[in-house]
Amino acid sequence: MSKFKSEIIKCLYKNDEYISGQYIAEKLNCSRVTIKKVIDQLKHEGFNIESQTNKGYKITQLPPLWQQEIVNIELSKQKILNKAYVQPQVDSTQLLARSIINEEHDDFVVLSDEQTKGRGRFNREWSSIKGKGLWMSIVLKPHIPIHKMSTFNLFISLAIQEVVEKHYQINSKIKWPNDIYVGEQKLCGFLTEMIADTDGVNAIICGIGFNLNQTREEFDKVGQHRATSLLIEHGSTIDPYQFLKYLIEAIEKRYNQFLVSPFSEIKDTYKSKSMIWNRTLNYTEGNKKVKGRAIDIQDNGFLTVISEDGEIYQFMSADIDI
Ligand code: BTN
Repeated sequence: MSKFKSEIIKCLYKNDEYISGQYIAEKLNCSRVTIKKVIDQLKHEGFNIESQTNKGYKITQLPPLWQQEIVNIELSKQKILNKAYVQPQVDSTQLLARSIINEEHDDFVVLSDEQTKGRGRFNREWSSIKGKGLWMSIVLKPHIPIHKMSTFNLFISLAIQEVVEKHYQINSKIKWPNDIYVGEQKLCGFLTEMIADTDGVNAIICGIGFNLNQTREEFDKVGQHRATSLLIEHGSTIDPYQFLKYLIEAIEKRYNQFLVSPFSEIKDTYKSKSMIWNRTLNYTEGNKKVKGRAIDIQDNGFLTVISEDGEIYQFMSADIDI
């Protein structure tokens, strides 16, 4: 591919209006023929680019697969998570993030169109159909003691839930501690791993799997009858770049709050967005299995559950059967 590809994508993406081939050619110090060749190649890769005589070129639709240049443009406006590694296919973004964590001094994001070994909580397989969802790991390097991590997921789940509600007007709920649901169907799941020693947390690797553009038929084909996507709920195709921007903005905001504030500051909001109240559910954490009702969340993020025979249990990170 031409060495001008990146620059041409940037030129076109940053302009909402038509931009002339002549203008781009002069800017990049190359010929109009080169511009035309690269544009044809981009069209071949899935970009929808309209051309009009005397006006030039304009992107009318982006390809469904991540383009490093566009991700860079979107993230360049962020304060913390403004560096991204974008790969067409990985085993798991969690594994790739881990493998580069020591090379990177700052916080960063790993994104991939497709994962061949996507993993969920409890090492369950995580289906990551190519180009249909946001398969992403974010790496954060805070200077905090380990005990503070017990509320991290609460802040992050609120950030994700808020994006769905605020930008897509969808009534979604948090399933403590790591899922976002619409009704009884899962829209997003995430998992948090960390690298820590007795001095504190060195890095957080938070892997988010968000269903963006799967259709009902695509879920049914792979037996995911309890899953939903933003496309299904919203009713139209989701622009992954816009979604990424909203999500990173919301995560940065709640992450900054997590660093300086106790959970009590968001507790009422969190509880009001949570779907587990007033229902008897099965809670499993290691060997502890309890059938009961959640009644509160403690300031350290632990969930209080009252069992059917009236006993009180505290859970740190249970698997909840719904
Ligand atoms: C869950 O619901 O169990 C959590 C799912 C987390 C899936 C994401 S997709 C990106 C990252 N890479 C993985 O292998 N897993 C997480």
